[in-house]
Amino acid sequence: MPDETLTIRDNRTGREYEVPIVDGTIRASDLRQIKVSQDDFGLMSYDPAFLNTASCRSAITFIDGDRGILRYRGYPIEQVAEHAGFLETAYLLLEGELPTREQLAAWEEEVRTHTYVHTNVVKFMEGFRHDAHPMGMLLGAIGALSTFYPDAKNIADPESRRLQRVRLIAKFPTIAAFIFRHSRGLPYVFPRNDLDYIGNFVNMTFEIGGRHEPNPVLQRALEILLILHADHEQNCSTNAVRGVGSSHVDPFSAVSAGIAALYGPLHGGANEAVLRMLDEIGSVENVPRFIEQVKAGHGRLMGFGHRVYKSYDPRAKLIKQVADRVFEQTGLNPKLEIALELERIALEDEYFVSRKLYPNVDFYSGLIYQAMGYPTDYFTVLFALGRLPGWIAQWEEMLGDPEQKIARPRQVYVGPAEREFVPIERR
Ligand code: CMC
Repeated sequence: MPDETLTIRDNRTGREYEVPIVDGTIRASDLRQIKVSQDDFGLMSYDPAFLNTASCRSAITFIDGDRGILRYRGYPIEQVAEHAGFLETAYLLLEGELPTREQLAAWEEEVRTHTYVHTNVVKFMEGFRHDAHPMGMLLGAIGALSTFYPDAKNIADPESRRLQRVRLIAKFPTIAAFIFRHSRGLPYVFPRNDLDYIGNFVNMTFEIGGRHEPNPVLQRALEILLILHADHEQNCSTNAVRGVGSSHVDPFSAVSAGIAALYGPLHGGANEAVLRMLDEIGSVENVPRFIEQVKAGHGRLMGFGHRVYKSYDPRAKLIKQVADRVFEQTGLNPKLEIALELERIALEDEYFVSRKLYPNVDFYSGLIYQAMGYPTDYFTVLFALGRLPGWIAQWEEMLGDPEQKIARPRQVYVGPAEREFVPIERR
């Protein structure tokens, strides 16, 4: 058995160092002993965008990007999506184990009793412009919840953390539904505690005049989409939640940082960007020309490519199956034809094949959300609703990890050396 160490020879000094390898990593701080002189700061690693830096140890989600594997707490995503409900998945992510029947019933009941929001939330929602982007409203509203629950600052108290976690999961759909109605100028519908989590959310969005005929196939499809989004280890928004949460701010503020990160078109905003791209392409005949433009460096094929997956995103595979079931109910989304043609060409094209660019979770999800009746700028809110349990689980894990401290990267300073200040009249 070879030594689990790495020998580094510093050619500047001729000195050798041996650093331990644990779980396929070396500790960046072990490099600090490598110096050219006593007053040298020591060697650092430089890794813009964290391409090859593990920022934590985590027991929540496993991804093998080359083999297209995703597991929550060890369970393959395919099995979780087939058998679990969304709150059951949330429990698994948060508690580490699948709930028993009794535990699940108690958890669902706990969430159900916290679905209402303070009526002042309604008042400040009304302050948003009629055309405010739903994600802007969401990050503001979730951040503002911290002002309603100042006890959330007690992040060292496990009971308080537990309560905030329930509040977040219970109130998020209510706020998300208020946002949907605000954009349409419809009166807000309040939670109905006789409905389950998904049924209640769908009712709060689509009920008109006391009526809404639930479609169980569409509700289960939405639930599966939320499950597929529930966690994805150290992605941009989760890293934002962990990074902001590492300052020991309350979880509402930390989650609102995650929402802000998710909003961007390279992350959750891609599902919205895909639909806009399909609109821009317009028809199947225009697909080859669009692909040529992308290859020439004019824009990206949205919904394609992933930092971690270098094969088909397993979530995209499952989403395609969900799409079939949804379109059977709603009729085909006319843009599906364009999407399928894009995928067909891209999967054969050398540019995409050599860069290992495959459809990701966002490629087909927007088409489904649209068929369900959600407007394009609302898609990322649905992504956020799904990702919420993951953000909270990762936040909790970060707080409980004795190795974690306030997140504070180093930099390589490349600005001017010290120079004399020039008074304004001499500039
Ligand atoms: N279309 C065309 N070319 C692409 C694409 C794309 N979608 N994605 C990557 N490339 C090219 C890129 O130009 C680069 O080419 P070259 O080596 O010639 O410069 C190469 O592939 C590697 O790309 P990268 O930008 O270094 O890869 P990254 O890991 O930094 O970016 C990504 C990952 C997801 C941001 C990127 O693939 C992308 O912008 N995709 C489109 C947006 C999208 O669908 N985002 C959703 C991601 S999945 C769900 C989520 O996180 O929300």
